[in-house]
Amino acid sequence: DKGNHRHFMQKEIFEQPTVVAQTLGRLLDPNTGSVRLPDLPFDLGSVKRITIVACGTSFYAGMVAKYWIEKFARVGVDVDIASEFRYRDPVYETGGLALFISQSGETADTLAALRHAKAGGQHIAAVVNVPQSTMAREADVVLPTYAGPEIGVASTKAFTCQLAVLASFAVALGRAKGHVSEAEEAKMVADLERIPSQMAKILHHQEDLVDIARKLAKARDILFVGRGIHYPIAMEGALKLKEISYIHAEGYAAGELKHGPIALIDENVPVIGLAPSDGLFDKSLSNLQEIMARKGRLILVSDHLTAFTENEMHGSFAMPSASDLTSPFLYALPVQLLAYHTAVEKGTDVDQPRNLAKAVTVE
Ligand code: M6R
Repeated sequence: DKGNHRHFMQKEIFEQPTVVAQTLGRLLDPNTGSVRLPDLPFDLGSVKRITIVACGTSFYAGMVAKYWIEKFARVGVDVDIASEFRYRDPVYETGGLALFISQSGETADTLAALRHAKAGGQHIAAVVNVPQSTMAREADVVLPTYAGPEIGVASTKAFTCQLAVLASFAVALGRAKGHVSEAEEAKMVADLERIPSQMAKILHHQEDLVDIARKLAKARDILFVGRGIHYPIAMEGALKLKEISYIHAEGYAAGELKHGPIALIDENVPVIGLAPSDGLFDKSLSNLQEIMARKGRLILVSDHLTAFTENEMHGSFAMPSASDLTSPFLYALPVQLLAYHTAVEKGTDVDQPRNLAKAVTVE
């Protein structure tokens, strides 16, 4: 049932404050200000390296997790797409931790990678949304997301629920490793608990994205750029857009543009810049200026829109200020909504895009 929504995807985008709160609610204890993970069959404090494997949107959640885990827990993380990982002859550390992320828990490549890592003697953790799935059964420990059934082929609420689990995991690991103090943990838990209401506020402004989507619908190529933890969100935005609107889109690390992709830029190419005013803001700005100098059409998504004048930009969307822990959840929303409204504008089959299946159970 789509309720008042036109598509399942839209319904699922709007369910995010609720399902992220549900997922966080299983992991965070507001009274003690601490994270409570399910019982683990290994000692968290002794984890030395983590291998994360997934496909598509779940892979981008894994990339976000890499930034969090390395920053908060100082544990090295390798992230790979499952179809590459399993055929690459990966090197396993004895007793290492391998983490698999999958909405369906049935993706053939991710499942094969899980079995490969298991045979390689790794501890297997799985972040899955379907509790009775094959991956949930075969993992040593399941870190469930509580997104509820996701019908739209384009993953939205499963992604932010994966982020909820992975952020909580990163904080718990940081604590177990002694890099996050009790007070810091309490502050992070409080920050995480504010996310659902912040998400709701952003969703409330979806109309502001409809005009931008009308412009995007006319484009042939679109770039999404971001730095640091927003780089995977840029890639997620590009995947979502191409998946349902069939417009060619790429996500790039803003600093990498000058190494090739900037050659694509002209007055016909919209560039969606994800640029929160964090420690990388000045760097992002100079990358965005390079784009504008080549007549690229900047659409700025930021909490600091005054960095450019209205005339300089092709469009903009105002964000609240956020930390590295909370901003991936928030910046995921405008990129989902841009993809959604662009697809609606183009008249594509949003929930059942061509050539795609909800769960890819073949290699
Ligand atoms: O069920 P999974 O999370 O394992 O699925 C992985 C990908 O197939 C999936 O995220 C796909 O990329 C989505 N259609 C993206 O919106």
